[in-house]
Amino acid sequence: MDRQDVVWQGASLVRTFVNEVRGGVPYGADQIAVMLRVLDACGLPVQRFADLGCGSGVLARAVLASHPTAQAALVDFSEPMMTEARRELSNHRPAPRFVVGDLAQPAWSDAVRDLAPFDAIVSGYAIHHLQHERKRALYGEIFDLLAPGGMFLNVEHVASVTAWIESVSDELMIDSIFEFHRQRGGEKSRQQVADEFVHRPDKAANILAPVEEQCGWLRGIGFVDVDCFFKAFELAVFGGRKPQV
Ligand SMILES: C[S@@+](CC[C@H](N)C(=O)[O-])C[C@H]1O[C@@H](n2cnc3c(N)ncnc32)[C@H](O)[C@@H]1O
Repeated sequence: MDRQDVVWQGASLVRTFVNEVRGGVPYGADQIAVMLRVLDACGLPVQRFADLGCGSGVLARAVLASHPTAQAALVDFSEPMMTEARRELSNHRPAPRFVVGDLAQPAWSDAVRDLAPFDAIVSGYAIHHLQHERKRALYGEIFDLLAPGGMFLNVEHVASVTAWIESVSDELMIDSIFEFHRQRGGEKSRQQVADEFVHRPDKAANILAPVEEQCGWLRGIGFVDVDCFFKAFELAVFGGRKPQV
């Protein structure tokens, strides 16, 4: 089967995403605030955590801002993304571990297993690039790497229930990216932003699953307190906790 996700290994998509798209994700700051709130509510000191499909490390940086002494492990299969993450976190101590690893293969965890058990594992807009079976298997691997009471939180692009809802979601994305562009003095029209969004090179790499179904997978694996903690159309923050033994 042809893999579409490898588009993320190209420097030009990485540049566009980091500079022109990530900051325009609707409710992006709210999603991170919800992620941090749920982590804090767990009551477990975050001493070790992982960010899977870390990109430039947006989520890892947010966790480290709240838990600066935590040991972070950042995993991504894109060298240009890792370069961005390394640049962003080069001065942080303790030095994060940067792992170039492919989440489509179970072997990704070999390079972080010595840091386990993790108090938290987060992921942002990455796991939806995997086939559904592989998503589910990865959630199992995450469960195994967590400490009792440890939390998994996925800030994720999920499937719309109908085509009409998908179109409403797309309009929200376009408005938000256009507004981000405009605020930074950009001169593209909304139509240009919309055209770029519709024809974005990473679109074919999205394999979206409904959030309810994914929460069901987490429960089946053994996670507790599973919920969708935030949702705006196709943007969700969901996850669960490994039970205390
Ligand atoms: C949309 S970006 C999100 C980046 C970052 N987590 C964020 O929230 O800004 C998706 C990221 O997932 C990574 N990714 C996609 N498929 C992957 C895979 N099979 N293994 C590891 N990383 C992957 C890409 O390289 C990219 O950095």
